[in-house]
Amino acid sequence: MSSETAKTHAARAALNYVKDGMVLGLGSGSTADIFTELLGLRVADGLKVQGIPTSQRTADAAAEAGIPLLSIEHADRIDLTVDGADEIGPDFALIKGGGGCLLREKIIANASDLMVVIADESKIVSTLGAFALPVEIDPFGFSITARKVFDVFGITGSARPAVSLREDKRSGKPFITDGGHYILDCACGVIADPAKTAAQLCAVPGVVEHGLFIDLARVAIIGGEHGAEILER
Ligand code: 5RP
Repeated sequence: MSSETAKTHAARAALNYVKDGMVLGLGSGSTADIFTELLGLRVADGLKVQGIPTSQRTADAAAEAGIPLLSIEHADRIDLTVDGADEIGPDFALIKGGGGCLLREKIIANASDLMVVIADESKIVSTLGAFALPVEIDPFGFSITARKVFDVFGITGSARPAVSLREDKRSGKPFITDGGHYILDCACGVIADPAKTAAQLCAVPGVVEHGLFIDLARVAIIGGEHGAEILER
């Protein structure tokens, strides 16, 4: 099965949640990109929506697709956010941030009346953590912050993680997020207690945000070879 096909099935099914007049959070990543492209086709057919992008890359893709954009500062509500995920665990707890957009993704998902996560079947897991957890940090004192982040995994019962500073593959320099921050990728295999880990990470000075999205998504649309399954909680 092509994962492109599965992602397309999920993205297409998510369009059923979009209604005329909505303000939409537009996610980032390859699955969200497909949603943006399909949404653009609906807009060309007359659908009236406004999009709030979760990254500069998505802003560019949405503009290219002809979707009118709204600055988050001018939004009095966000009706729906559709975004991808790196892992979808029990109760739709997510790991996000593989693309480095987790801060804006979380601000927008948290401000939305509904978050729908779209993914192919490979993203469903029984425990979170096989995908290294992205943690967005301020560059100031980053090596101290990295040691404190490392300690959080021990305190919360997970295995000692491998913590690495994400690199920009082209330049070999640290990857810089849209907000001007660094990313630590924390690989520990299994995150023993996601809620406790999330709370402890937030308490580390220098941590701007982390990629654990707990209690945010209420709908998960999982694409497969022949269609998409819609899960709600
Ligand atoms: C970006 C994200 C993406 O949603 C996540 O990485 C999934 O991407 P893809 O759909 O390409 O697998 O969190 O920060």
